[in-house]
Amino acid sequence: MTARAGEKSDAASTKKPERAAIGVGLPHESANLHVSGEATYVDDIGELRGTLHAALGLSRHAHARIVSINLDLVLAAPGVIAVFTADDIPGENNCGPVLHDDPILAKDEVLYLGQPVFVVIAETHDLARRAAALAKSEEVIRYEPLEATLTPRDAKAKQQFVLPPLHLKRGDPDGKIAAAAHRLQGEFEVGGQEQFYLEGQIAYAIPKELDGMLVYSSTQHPSEMQHLVAHMLDWPTHNVICECRRMGGGFGGKESQSGIFACIASLAAHLLHRPVKLRADRDDDFMITGKRHDAIYTYEAGFDDDGRLQGARVEIALRAGYSADLSGAVATRAVCHFDNAYYLQDVDITALCCRTNTQSNTAFRGFGGPQGALVMEVMMDEIAHRLKRDPVDVRRVNYYGTGERNVTPYGQTVEDNVIVPLTDELVTSSAYVQRRKAIAAFNKTSPVLKRGIAFTPVKFGISFNVPFLNQAGALVHVYKDGSALVNHGGTEMGQGLNTKVAQVVANALGVPLSRVRVTATDTSKIANTSATAASTGSDLNGKAAEAAALTIRGRLAELAAKQLGGRVEDVRFHNGVVESNGGQMPFDQLVAAAYLARVQLWSDGFYATPKVNWDSKTLTGQPFYYFAYGAAISEVVVDTLTGEWRLLRTDILHDAGQSINPALDIGQVEGGFVQGMGWLTTEELWWNRDGRLMTHAPSTYKIPSVSDIPAAMNVALYDNQNVEPTVFRSKAVGEPPLLLGFSVLLAIRAAIASAAPDSADAPALRAPATPESILNALDAQASKQVMVAAADIAQPASVN
Ligand code: MTE
Ligand code: MOS
Repeated sequence: MTARAGEKSDAASTKKPERAAIGVGLPHESANLHVSGEATYVDDIGELRGTLHAALGLSRHAHARIVSINLDLVLAAPGVIAVFTADDIPGENNCGPVLHDDPILAKDEVLYLGQPVFVVIAETHDLARRAAALAKSEEVIRYEPLEATLTPRDAKAKQQFVLPPLHLKRGDPDGKIAAAAHRLQGEFEVGGQEQFYLEGQIAYAIPKELDGMLVYSSTQHPSEMQHLVAHMLDWPTHNVICECRRMGGGFGGKESQSGIFACIASLAAHLLHRPVKLRADRDDDFMITGKRHDAIYTYEAGFDDDGRLQGARVEIALRAGYSADLSGAVATRAVCHFDNAYYLQDVDITALCCRTNTQSNTAFRGFGGPQGALVMEVMMDEIAHRLKRDPVDVRRVNYYGTGERNVTPYGQTVEDNVIVPLTDELVTSSAYVQRRKAIAAFNKTSPVLKRGIAFTPVKFGISFNVPFLNQAGALVHVYKDGSALVNHGGTEMGQGLNTKVAQVVANALGVPLSRVRVTATDTSKIANTSATAASTGSDLNGKAAEAAALTIRGRLAELAAKQLGGRVEDVRFHNGVVESNGGQMPFDQLVAAAYLARVQLWSDGFYATPKVNWDSKTLTGQPFYYFAYGAAISEVVVDTLTGEWRLLRTDILHDAGQSINPALDIGQVEGGFVQGMGWLTTEELWWNRDGRLMTHAPSTYKIPSVSDIPAAMNVALYDNQNVEPTVFRSKAVGEPPLLLGFSVLLAIRAAIASAAPDSADAPALRAPATPESILNALDAQASKQVMVAAADIAQPASVN
C-alpha cells in the first residue's frame, strides 16, 4: 500500500541530499513506543501518592428541571471521599469555548441525557464509578421532565437555534434555476459520527503550591484547558499549567470537549488538595461528549445539457446539540465547502445550527467541510444520472477554472487549482473508463450482486476561518553537546506533527534527526496557542519552529565565519557538519565553542499565516491561505438481497504539496479516507425516543476495522508544490482526505441505481449506508422500476 511512499522518499533523498530530513518517509517519532506499548498517555503517568479518582453522575433526562439533589446515598457508598456539584465551583461554571452556554456541571436544569450533574471522588476508579451510577436513583436526583427537542428537524420546525442562521448568496440563483434546461431538487440526510479516539477523554490534575494547578490533559488545545480551569477557579491564567505529551487520537473531539474533564479533575483537586484523575469510561465518553454534526439537506439546482450547474440552493440543517460549542465555526466551514471543487456563479447557501436536547456537537476531522461538500457530490451524481452521463464528465464541466470561473461564493480567488490534471492522472491510473464499462456489463448479467464505481474530488481550504487563530509559537534549545530540544504549541495526536517539526528543525540546523528531541506540549513554555486543528498543525508550528532554529543557526553562522573565515551567509549546515570558506567543523564543536563565547543557544520562533481575512457578517473574505486537493475512485459490490457490501478497490491521488514526510502523509490519507468511509457507511448514532443515545459502545457503534480496508488500495501523493511559501512548500493533510470517503457512499449508490437502470431518479440512499438503508433504497428503487415498467405497458407510444 505504501510502496509509493518508499519510492518518493528514495527519489527525494537522492535529489536533495542537503535536505536529508525533508521529503523522506521517516517513521513516526513514537512509532516504536506505540507498538511496544511504552508510549506514555495521561493514564500511564505514574500516579502520585494520595491520588483520588473521579466519576461523573449523569442526567437521566434529555430535558428536565432539577427539583432536588440529595447526595447522602452517594456519599455513603464505599470508598467515596467527596461529591461536588455546580454549587462547589468557585469561579465560572462554564466550559463553552465561544459562548458561555456550557455548564461544567448542570445546575437547576439538565439539557441532555448524559449531562454531568455531580462528580464523585473516591479511593479508586471503580468505586467512584459505582457511586456515580447512583445518579440513576430517584432518591438522589429528582427531576421534573420538560419538553425535549430531539432532532434537527424538530428544532427547525420550532426555530430553535444555538446561533443565528448563516446565509451566503451570490448572483441570482432563483432566476438561474428557473431558467435552466434541467432542474433537480431533493432532500438528503447524513448522520453524525463519534470521534472514537482510542484513548478516551482523561485529565489528571495535581495541585501545586500557592494556588497552582498542573493538569495533564488529553487535549488538542492545552491553552484552552488552562484558560477554562483558571476561569472556573477564578484564578489568573498563570496559576495553571496544562501539559500533553500525546493523545491516542483526538479527531476534533478533544478541541473543546476535553474541557469538562480538565475542569472537573482540577475542581476536585483544588477542593481536596489532592491529585485527582478523571478518566471517562467509553460509554460515559459517548454519552457526555459531542460528535460530528449530522445534517439534513434541502437542495435545488438548475443545470444545462452538459450538466453544468446554472444555479444552486442548499439549506444545511446541522444538529448543534444543546449548546453552541464550536457549531458556529463548523457551520461556517460547511458553507465554505458546499462548492467543493466547483464553480458556482449563482448560489444560495444557508446553514442552521439546530438546538436539540442531545450532546453538544463539536469538531470532527473536516470541521463541517465534509458536511458542506457531501451534498454537492450527491447532486453531481444525480445530475449525471439524470443526463445519463459519466459522473466524471459532469464534474469536469463544473470544476473551477484557472484564470476564470475561479472565485468562490465567499469571494476568495482559487489560485492553486490542480484538480483537472489530478483528475486526469487518477482516471488514467485507475483504468476508470474501462472498469466502468466492465461493471455495467457485469451488472447486466448479475441479478443479485451489483457493482458500483464512483469518483469524488476534494478541494479543502486550509486555515482557521477565524483569522486570529492562525498563529503559533515554538521554542528551540540547543544544549552544549549540540543536541536540540523543540517545544511548540501544537499537540501530537498520532498525525505525526512532532515528527514533521523535528524534521524541520533538524533540517534548519543541518543535524541528523536523532539529534532533535520533541517534548510534551506545555502551556508554561508556549503561551496563548491555538488548538491543533483545521489541519494547520505542521503549517503553523513547523514555521514557528523553523524560525526559532534559523535564529540559532544565524548566531552560529556568525561564529563559524569568524572561526573558519568566509561570509556569514555562505556558511552551510548539513549532516552535522558546518562548512565555511572551504573549511569545516562538526556542529557539536561549533555549539560548544558558541557556549564558551556566550552566544545564546536557544530561541523562540513565531509565525502568523499571511493573507487570511474574514468578515463573519457577510461571510466573505479570504478565509484560506491555500487549498489542498485530492480525488478518489472506489468500487464496491452490493448484495441486493441482504444490503451487505464490500469495498473492492480504491485508488487515491492526494495533494500534500511537497510532502515533508510522505510516509506520514500517506498514513493520513489512508486513515482519513477510511474514517470518512466509516462515517458514511457503518457508523450510526441512534437516540431513542427519550433522547438516550443507544449506540454508545463498539458493540452497537461500528467503526471500520482492518478487514474493511480493500485488498486493492492504491494511494499516491500528487506531485505538487504549494504555491504559497509554506514550510518546504508542503500542504496540510490531516483533514482533507476524509472527504475522499464520499466515493464509497456514491459507489454504493451507483450499485443500487444499476438495480433499476430505467428509473429517472437516483436512489434515495441516506447516509450512513447501513445494510438497512441500502435495502430501503433498493426497495424504493424497485418500486420506481415497477412504475416505469407499468407506464411502458400503459402508454407504449409515449416512451421516448
Ligand atoms: N490523525 C491521527 N492519527 N489522529 C488524530 O486524532 N486528527 C485529525 C488529523 N489527523 C487526527 C489525525 C484532525 S481532526 C486534524 S485537525 C489534524 O489531524 C490535526 O493535526 P495537524 O494539523 O497536525 O494535521
Ligand atoms: Mo480537527 S476537526 O480541526 O480537530
